[in-house]
Amino acid sequence: ERQRLVENILKPFILEDSVYDKVCDVMLDNFNKGLGKDTNADARVKMFPTYVRSVPNGTEEGNFLALDLGGTNFRVLLINLNGQEVDMESKIYLIPQHIMLGTGVQLFDHIADCIYKFMKEHKLENKKLPLGFTFSFPCKQLGLAEAHLTTWTKGFKCEGVEGKDIVTLLHDAIKRKGDMHVECLAVINDTVGALMSCAHSDRQCGIGLILGTGTNACYIERLENVELWDADYEEPKQVIINTEWGALGDNGDLDFLITEYDKHVDKHSINAGKQIYEKMISGMYMGEIVRLVLEKLRKNGLLFNGKGSEELSTRGRFYTKYVSEIESDVDESDFKSTKQVFDELNLTDYTDQDCRIALHVCSLVSKRAAYLASAGIATLLNKMERKDVSVAVDGSLYRFHPHFHDLMVEKIQKLIKPGLRFKLMLSHDGSGKGAALVAAVANRLKEEAL
Ligand code: BG6
Ligand code: GLC
Repeated sequence: ERQRLVENILKPFILEDSVYDKVCDVMLDNFNKGLGKDTNADARVKMFPTYVRSVPNGTEEGNFLALDLGGTNFRVLLINLNGQEVDMESKIYLIPQHIMLGTGVQLFDHIADCIYKFMKEHKLENKKLPLGFTFSFPCKQLGLAEAHLTTWTKGFKCEGVEGKDIVTLLHDAIKRKGDMHVECLAVINDTVGALMSCAHSDRQCGIGLILGTGTNACYIERLENVELWDADYEEPKQVIINTEWGALGDNGDLDFLITEYDKHVDKHSINAGKQIYEKMISGMYMGEIVRLVLEKLRKNGLLFNGKGSEELSTRGRFYTKYVSEIESDVDESDFKSTKQVFDELNLTDYTDQDCRIALHVCSLVSKRAAYLASAGIATLLNKMERKDVSVAVDGSLYRFHPHFHDLMVEKIQKLIKPGLRFKLMLSHDGSGKGAALVAAVANRLKEEAL
């Protein structure tokens, strides 16, 4: 009886194949709307052309700085490119919550401060260095080094930045700080960094995917399919498109599968009504979805003998890393990690059956996330019509979840057209290496023009 009641509550997370087929249809529809000249204005999935046209060819060289903002960590990096060899040093700097939710001037002053400290520590004080900026938010780009933030996503909301060019804001802050010769030559999204970094060694890499704090993908599109393209038509006739697919569903397109838990997560977020697909998939939200389900089960007397804890009742306190930890308990007889998580949450009254149910909840929520992301990737693969495509993947969710990769391979295979082949490859340090590679190409072009 308990089992039946539990299953009843979990039912909304178990979706039939036809539902994922429908997600693919909706995704394709949204991609096409975003790419169309007349339809883009109303489109939720924006399909931003990135102005990154060619993948690196392995001859890139020199010293570069890179910034990586928008994932779990803010980092400053120093990268030395020398053909296939890449050396990197990096340092993580904290961005306090009050800056993430403060003003744009505070944010960029803080970033300039961090660059200054980094350069000092690395004895680069008087060096003139080109910089690549991985800025992992939706931007309308007007060139490689001009990127207007359209809207903050994830945990950021700094006043006075939306609509502005972030390169200008960065350069202004660097000037205010003084004493630095740093010029930002390129802004890229983290998805583009992942793609570039893999393409450096794998010529078949055509998609960059992030499954981390947020989720998003970019891919190589033929210029003829990009009605919005307003720059030159020179070879190669292609451009990387940053889909910003996290916004799928913002107009109700995913209402056919949304659960009460998704609605709750959205309602209490700092960007309610936005990034609906992202909120069903990515690391910033997955733990919270699981927490809400566990709480519902508990309140119905189906978990922990009905007894919870303050921690379990606290919004945001069930981290997504717990989902990965619980799901790594393969040996059902001991539930070591699950019990450890329960202890961390100050839950005292649990049995093996509670562990089994919690593991089941986690696996259903993460499986839905993996399958939804698979629908997005399959839609891209079907659209690209290349026989072999490697997908470069980065992000903490993909890295640390024990089954995400396998779940995705299985589901993508089911959703793509016969004859197409793909690989999911972990991308290494895309946001550093990728930004440096793009800055290197921009730097070469700049010097050639002189
Ligand atoms: C990292 C990059 O490897 O992946 C980040 O350095 C990027 O810049 C990230 O945003 C995505 O994952 P997460 O989990 O840090 O959001
Ligand atoms: C969010 C951002 C997007 C980024 C993704 C992964 O969806 O809007 O730009 O790529 O998170 O970090």
